[in-house]
Amino acid sequence: MRDVANAAEARLRIALQKSGRLTDASLELLSRCGLKVSRGKDQLMCYGENMPLDVLLVRDDDIPDLVQEDVCDLGLVGLNVVEEKRLAFEAAGQPALFEVVRRLDFGRCRLCIAVPDGFEYRGAASLAGRRIATTYPHVLRRYLEERGVEAQIVVLSGSVEIAPRLGRADLICDLVSTGSTLAANHLRLADVVLESQAVLIRTPVPIPEDKQDWARRLLMRIDGVEEVKGSKYIMLHAPRAALPAIARLLPGSEAPTVIPLEGLGDRVAVHAVCRENVFWETLEQLKGVGASSVLVLPVEKMLA
Ligand code: PRP
Ligand code: ZN
Repeated sequence: MRDVANAAEARLRIALQKSGRLTDASLELLSRCGLKVSRGKDQLMCYGENMPLDVLLVRDDDIPDLVQEDVCDLGLVGLNVVEEKRLAFEAAGQPALFEVVRRLDFGRCRLCIAVPDGFEYRGAASLAGRRIATTYPHVLRRYLEERGVEAQIVVLSGSVEIAPRLGRADLICDLVSTGSTLAANHLRLADVVLESQAVLIRTPVPIPEDKQDWARRLLMRIDGVEEVKGSKYIMLHAPRAALPAIARLLPGSEAPTVIPLEGLGDRVAVHAVCRENVFWETLEQLKGVGASSVLVLPVEKMLA
């Protein structure tokens, strides 16, 4: 638990992965929430200059513990790590108390069973009696138990993908995102154990009152950033008669704003927020139904 002196500072603390697949996107998310941090090279703790929020850069595997122990109020981490920790805590007879408060739209990857070339995989039964190398023993154990398969779990701390070649295991259970690590090691995906993405977790301890306002504002800003991801603001001119056709073409947009154009007779300006990316094909189709002066802009912020 935090000591009184720290609590009196009333600064929120959030843990992020120091270097890895989530680092850039996590820092970018906070920056889009308006946070400016002073970050020295190899610095572990970054001071929020314009918000009472400090960023702790640590190994992703340590994030659930830091949040569980209330050293940090919040943590941004992969669901893969969260699930492994949760099951590890439970196996140790100590329930995981940190709570997943948001699933975020980045860091997507899959924890997979992957087998070497030449391994005949015919469903989970093919894993019976095999040695499976992984850094996710608890998630893998649950997967095997759910399928009634008995196999040997070889717990490694890294470089799982070379375990089969080194003769330490018959196959692996590891994270896959692009699949290039598997390909480079002559392994192929056999089954998905867990779909993962970045999540925001929070401390089990009630956030002190003097920090609650900023915790709430940060969550609202995160929601705002997530909401506009991929959204575009589109502006165009068109004949009023083309409005129904245009409405059908605009991807994922709600009622567009229609503005009369001074001195241009029946032509109107149409403004709309599209909740999906707008492709060149869509612009060409819009032109085809009479649109001109089409502009597509990124949406930076949105507050519902
Ligand atoms: C994972 C995994 C592979 C790689 C797969 O490690 O162990 O090495 O990513 O990615 P790919 O399919 O795009 O090739 P990660 O970088 O997440 O490190 P960590 O598990 O040690 O945090
Ligand atoms: Zn890690």
